[in-house]
Amino acid sequence: MHDFLYKNNNLYCENLKVQDLAVRFGTPLHIYSYNTLTNHFIKLRKAFSAIDPLICYSVKANSNLSILKALVEKGAGLDIVSGGELFRAIKAGCPAKKIVYASVGKTEAEIATAISKGILFFNVESLPELRSIDRIARRLGKITRVAIRINPDVEAKTHKFITTGKITNKFGIDLNSAYKILLLRDEFKNVSICGLHIHIGSQITESAPFVAAIKKVSAFIKKLESKGIKLEYLNIGGGLGIVYDSETPQTAQVYADEITPLLKDTGLKIIMEPGRFIVGNAGILVTKVLYIKHTPKKKFIIVDGGMNDLIRPALYGAHHNILTLRKSSTKSEKADVVGPICESGDFLAKERKIACVKEGDYLAVMSSGAYGFSMSSNYNSRLRAAEVMVSKNKVRVIRKRETYADLIRNESNG
Ligand code: LLP
Repeated sequence: MHDFLYKNNNLYCENLKVQDLAVRFGTPLHIYSYNTLTNHFIKLRKAFSAIDPLICYSVKANSNLSILKALVEKGAGLDIVSGGELFRAIKAGCPAKKIVYASVGKTEAEIATAISKGILFFNVESLPELRSIDRIARRLGKITRVAIRINPDVEAKTHKFITTGKITNKFGIDLNSAYKILLLRDEFKNVSICGLHIHIGSQITESAPFVAAIKKVSAFIKKLESKGIKLEYLNIGGGLGIVYDSETPQTAQVYADEITPLLKDTGLKIIMEPGRFIVGNAGILVTKVLYIKHTPKKKFIIVDGGMNDLIRPALYGAHHNILTLRKSSTKSEKADVVGPICESGDFLAKERKIACVKEGDYLAVMSSGAYGFSMSSNYNSRLRAAEVMVSKNKVRVIRKRETYADLIRNESNG
């Protein structure tokens, strides 16, 4: 499942001891395993080999250029949501024809650049956006392609902040309105509507919501065909859940077995946009214990990594396993693992049973590869952590730790 394992009671990333990496590169430190990263991509591709989809890795999960490049080299396309992500995608060497672009708020400048680069298509989230893309394409003298993002109104059974396919969410277009737009398609002279897109949420651990959404959209495709509207692509989004704690998410194979027949039946070329499934368990955050603090009510393990490095616990109450770098047989105790930031929400774990650690020890916060560094910030003027990638017995810095000069680079002192 991943390459962060204990050998002789020491935590390793592939063939390298995590403790050595922490000492060499300092903490907080994001460590990624190349093998885990690429294996997850390959596993998904294998599971779906019967339909050979274009797997567009979702850049927002972890947008480091080296991560993107590793996946692009294996044949991945990329799913982007901003001009910045387009810039990264191109820099990482992704062919424009393998880039799909979602987001409810694409700006004119972003749309124009994406059209000029010749991306595969936009996932369009509203009628005004479609009009805007058509107008900009006309100005540029191009015909560009779009998929309509459908809001299928299904319950993804995940955290309410990361569910996107309910009709009360800001994403996508309801089926009735999408139908009306498709009937008007000839009005958009510089846009070719070539597909449909769905993405119902993230960290979805059962296949049922995916099946429900695909069934709805398949029936819609049939209805369109009966009206002579032919499409080429179905983009089924991302959302596959992973193991953080005791979840038992569907495997790639089970997911594929459940939905492949439905997808085949559409006759369309399939695109998918997984983020977390590919990179989530390929990364850990290593942090150093600064102080152990006992209060009348609690024990706090104060570490040098905070909510600015990994915001998921603070934002979603997300669970990340926390391991000591040396497997310890000493007793464990309940504690809150907290960062140095001036907010009570700055925690990595609450009331967690953790092996007794002392100042100077390191902890590994597991499964932080997705939405870890990519959601990090400089809050409290903290420097963003370094990122390193391990492959077998080699390690490479893929993002330098920031410096104080980086902090004020764009500020004026006047
Ligand atoms: N496609 C679209 C249109 C998306 O909005 C997303 C994620 C994905 C694909 C990739 O989803 P994934 O396969 O990674 O589940 N920050 C949250 C997750 C937000 C997901 C946003 N959209 C977290 O840390 O849990």
